[in-house]
Amino acid sequence: MSRALPSAAYTDPGRTQEPSTSRTSQDITKLQKDTLHAALRVDQAGEVAANYIYMGQLAVLGRDRIVGPLIQEMWDQEKKHLNVMNKLQLQHRVRPTILWQVAKVAGFGLGAITALMGKEAAMACTEAVETVIGEHYDECVDSLRRLCRNIDRMTCSQLKELNEMKSSHPSISLLKDVIREFRDDELEHLDTAVEYHSQRAPAHALLSTVVGGGCKMAIELCKRF
Ligand SMILES: [Fe+2]
Ligand SMILES: [Fe+2]
Repeated sequence: MSRALPSAAYTDPGRTQEPSTSRTSQDITKLQKDTLHAALRVDQAGEVAANYIYMGQLAVLGRDRIVGPLIQEMWDQEKKHLNVMNKLQLQHRVRPTILWQVAKVAGFGLGAITALMGKEAAMACTEAVETVIGEHYDECVDSLRRLCRNIDRMTCSQLKELNEMKSSHPSISLLKDVIREFRDDELEHLDTAVEYHSQRAPAHALLSTVVGGGCKMAIELCKRF
């Protein structure tokens, strides 16, 4: 039997009451909490945009017998990502971005416009977006790893006084695993895009720079707003 994916903790209805999926860590400083919230706000917005990008691509290329099913498959994964991110946002009581509607419109527009430029351009858009999102998820995993280490250190110093063993909140280590899983999915989308000739798109370098730059800017905006 294959091992369950970390995100199954959120998609399996039987596990909604587990502390890792129903509670948030109280053992973190204000700064750590802000970091966690900014990360989750970006992640949720990113998954919203990703869903709309694939929706836009499918609106144009849905009838294509080769890339149509491929885009649908990637979109289905994004639907799962968003579903899990929505649950995480509620669990950790994160304020969603106020740029919610912008993410939808920009995502759909980006997907549809690049698809109108051709299959290769659509794949180049996917390549650029998933590269930036993959890097962003990597940074998230790193900061969550640091957070876990800090919580452990904090509880260790309390340990001397309390003589009581506490470990990192299970929700934080689960979050780290979920993000790692999603990062792998995004990198798979990236590989698919390259495999389906993203690099043959007209003005590939320019397209990558514009789309990738836009994504990076969106990440910074969603952290704050
Ligand atoms: Fe995703
Ligand atoms: Fe993706």
